[in-house]
Amino acid sequence: MVSYSCAGISTVKPSCRRILISYKRSSVFGFQIPISNRSAVINLSKSRVSRGIHTCNSIVLGFRVDPKLGFRDVIDSNRNGFCCSASNWGRQPRVLLNGCPVGVYDRRFSRLVSKVASDYRNHSTSVESHVNDTSWERIYIQGGLNVKPVVIEKLKSKQENEDKLLDYSRSDVIIEFPDRKESEIEKGAWELLRGSIVNYCGSPVGTIAAADPADKLPLNYDQVFIRDFVPSALAFLLNGEGEIVKNFLLHTLQLQSWEKTVDCHSPGQGLTPASFKVRSVPLDGRPGEFEEVLDPDFGESAIGRVAPVDSGLWWIILLRAYGKITGDYTLQERVDVQTGIQLILKLCLADGFDMFPTLLVTDGSCMIDRRMGIHGHPLEIQALFYSALRCSQEMVTVNDTPKDLVAAINNRLSALCFHIREYYWVDMKKINEIYRYKTEEYSTDAINKFNIYPEQIPSWLVDWFPESGGYFIGNLQPAHMDFRFFTLGNLWSIVSSLGSPKQNDGILNLIEEKWDDLVANMPLKICYPALDNEEWRIITGSDPKNTPWSYHNGGSWPTLLWQFTLACIKMKRPELARKAITVAEKRLSSDKWPEYYDTRYGRFIGKQSRLYQTWTIAGFLTSKKLLENPEMASKLFLEEDYQLLENCVCGLGGKHGRKKCYRAAPRSHHVV
Ligand code: GLC
Repeated sequence: MVSYSCAGISTVKPSCRRILISYKRSSVFGFQIPISNRSAVINLSKSRVSRGIHTCNSIVLGFRVDPKLGFRDVIDSNRNGFCCSASNWGRQPRVLLNGCPVGVYDRRFSRLVSKVASDYRNHSTSVESHVNDTSWERIYIQGGLNVKPVVIEKLKSKQENEDKLLDYSRSDVIIEFPDRKESEIEKGAWELLRGSIVNYCGSPVGTIAAADPADKLPLNYDQVFIRDFVPSALAFLLNGEGEIVKNFLLHTLQLQSWEKTVDCHSPGQGLTPASFKVRSVPLDGRPGEFEEVLDPDFGESAIGRVAPVDSGLWWIILLRAYGKITGDYTLQERVDVQTGIQLILKLCLADGFDMFPTLLVTDGSCMIDRRMGIHGHPLEIQALFYSALRCSQEMVTVNDTPKDLVAAINNRLSALCFHIREYYWVDMKKINEIYRYKTEEYSTDAINKFNIYPEQIPSWLVDWFPESGGYFIGNLQPAHMDFRFFTLGNLWSIVSSLGSPKQNDGILNLIEEKWDDLVANMPLKICYPALDNEEWRIITGSDPKNTPWSYHNGGSWPTLLWQFTLACIKMKRPELARKAITVAEKRLSSDKWPEYYDTRYGRFIGKQSRLYQTWTIAGFLTSKKLLENPEMASKLFLEEDYQLLENCVCGLGGKHGRKKCYRAAPRSHHVV
């Protein structure tokens, strides 16, 4: 049977059942793939139009659905000349219409198109067909720029496919943990966490950001945020529940390859959304019938319109965690999942104008998703980038990964690690060094490489800095060091071993020593100290939500507890984590699990803080679980990689002893 579906008009059953998943063995997202279909051709042809959709270029598409292969045709009735314009070709859109890339169209419509792309990908082995291709720049998804028409070139043997695919219908992976009596608070927290689960087509796919029944204006807090789901995922995994995590990873993988457009501009393929929502959409022409659709936000709706750089990095980190905790590695070995990893890395490792190995991003592209003066090379992104690279290094399957991608991962890891350890680290000795810096040095031998004027050492730092310990600064730019302490970046540097063992220890020493400033009445400050007065006005743009000691500007975020716990366990200091959990436990439940706390010592529930914030709840539960199972916790962090440190990728340093390599002769005393 062949049925037809057009944007806006559907003559088939709800898409989730029809298109995406049937959870049956030996199917890819619901479609049996006959082995005989080794060279099935998917035509992109023009025909069958049902309705016009207004977009900036008015494009109408339709699909013909084959129950065996999914969408077979993508139909264009009203193609606009613009889509053939040269400026569009560089974007590698997923769908070609009569040989032209589709660049812009209606949002809802893009959902359908993306399904085509994903389904094509699921049936295709285009990545495999490039196994011997040494250039990873050539990664593409069927339907992309080079494809006319889309050809399913080769399928793996049935057995191979079955081995690679997770069977959704089988009972979930069970992980055994020792019994412990849960406290009433924990029981309540579990209930709330379960209450925040979002289902899609009958299966759990994530948790909403906040579930406060009294909140009449949830904005986007009723969506599943990628970063927010990580502690939920870990809580579930550590509780022996893997299904929701697997579903989340696969569905967000699909979203990654959707065509996304903001004002006629499309970002890179591998961009992972900040969040998504499951919407119920009426089926055109079928009164009373609805279909569920996933509606992602890549930043086109988010306040500030910022692309979430951290989402893809978290996705990779979670993918590794899923494998490590469940022992089920088939998910990460899947061809489409491997392609997903590669697309994210491709975005991150793309050549640019940069002189540094750090990732250059805009303000607000991570947990701090509003203007807070963290544009450039913020520590949080670098630490997550490093973690994601290390996780990828472990997960990419050698035979399916282009050699130069593997080399790019290794090289970047080594350079990034050196750069952060050497230039972001501050302790008493280093501050004193900066204090005495000479400026305007012109040469490759400069000691003050970034031309930092000592006057920018803030007065708070001079008095605040403890004798022992240290931390990684928030950002490094030409003539600019952001000396604020950012908790997530520092904790994740410990967890991923971006910092050296000594530095990691130093960070925890500093947190312990500065407990009243960084923990006080609620763990933990998102950053320290707050920006105030003119600084607040200029740097935040007078943001009324980010007033001093509130929200991102020095607010206290209980969700950071799980990352702190993980870091403490790694550094063999669980007692420090226990102390923080005890502080949090006193208030979180009775305060209704706020998103964040305000004031210098975290005494008040945040001015505009959401209540029943899921990652507060999940962060608490995950912290408890991690402390209970240090063995499991150890699967989540990454140990020092000594081989990495020996790799000097520029070929000028190390044994060669050439002066040009900074690494050959680190100028400061901070030898990694
Ligand atoms: C806020 C936070 C962001 C979080 C979102 C949903 O925007 O800054 O990190 O993901 O809320 O909880």
